[in-house]
Amino acid sequence: MQAVNNEFFNKFAKEYDQDPNCSQGVDIGKAILRELGSLLDKSKTVAMDFGCGTGLVSQQMYPHVHQLVGVDASKGMVEVYNEKFAKHEIDNAHAECVELTAAESDGSNGEKWVFKDQLDGKRFDLIFTSMAWHHVENIDMMAWILKNYLKDGGKLVVADIRKNGEQNTSNSDESDKHAHKAHGHQHQHHHQQHESHGASHLDGSHTVTHHGGFTDQEITKNLQQAGLKDIETRMLITITMKKEEQSKGVSMDISMAIGTRRD
Ligand SMILES: C[S@@+](CC[C@H](N)C(=O)[O-])C[C@H]1O[C@@H](n2cnc3c(N)ncnc32)[C@H](O)[C@@H]1O
Repeated sequence: MQAVNNEFFNKFAKEYDQDPNCSQGVDIGKAILRELGSLLDKSKTVAMDFGCGTGLVSQQMYPHVHQLVGVDASKGMVEVYNEKFAKHEIDNAHAECVELTAAESDGSNGEKWVFKDQLDGKRFDLIFTSMAWHHVENIDMMAWILKNYLKDGGKLVVADIRKNGEQNTSNSDESDKHAHKAHGHQHQHHHQQHESHGASHLDGSHTVTHHGGFTDQEITKNLQQAGLKDIETRMLITITMKKEEQSKGVSMDISMAIGTRRD
């Protein structure tokens, strides 16, 4: 699945920012910044943008942190990120093409996996990820890996598609439960349709492991199992996704889950 993901994003990297669905990463970035602004310290916050893509969220975050490292498994996306940031002479952010992995543990360390440092000992005050989590095959392992890259007290923030479930209260009654294909992803969405301009022609539904995203309950369990504490979920933003042949878009809720490493 990772190879399929990489092939897709490598191919579309150069047109990603122009795609009207994908470019809404900018709005998600602004919403994340609004939620996290008070946690950021320009003089010392070291942050990671996991699944950074072309850097649409990093573009919002870099002015407010000391250092920002984008991590993405797609070489093409990382190239676009680095070209863009170099062009604008931004010197506190860069991206690295890395597939974070961990080996299965024999249990002797009391953990399920063995941590393998792939980022030269760098540790982070904040790791955020936007619209990448539903592409990640093993989110339990990935949350655990990312926790290991946090400093004590550091925070992991996962922004992704909010699936309506029993635990979610807002919007659940006016939402329908059928999946829809937009921006190449199968998502649950609100029945009500909204006008939107432009339409996506990228179809990457085959690159998605977690169709429809995550309920608040699922994402909370995910971060808890990784050993993170003080987990909270909240609605972040509603975006509108549209396919080429559609005259109207469908709205999709994006939620944010946040957990803290406490040693
Ligand atoms: C839909 S894009 C989102 C990009 C960016 N975060 C944004 O909001 O604009 C998903 C990104 O996740 C990356 N990705 C998928 N699986 C990954 C993995 N296992 N490790 C790192 N990056 C991954 C893809 O290469 C792609 O760049």
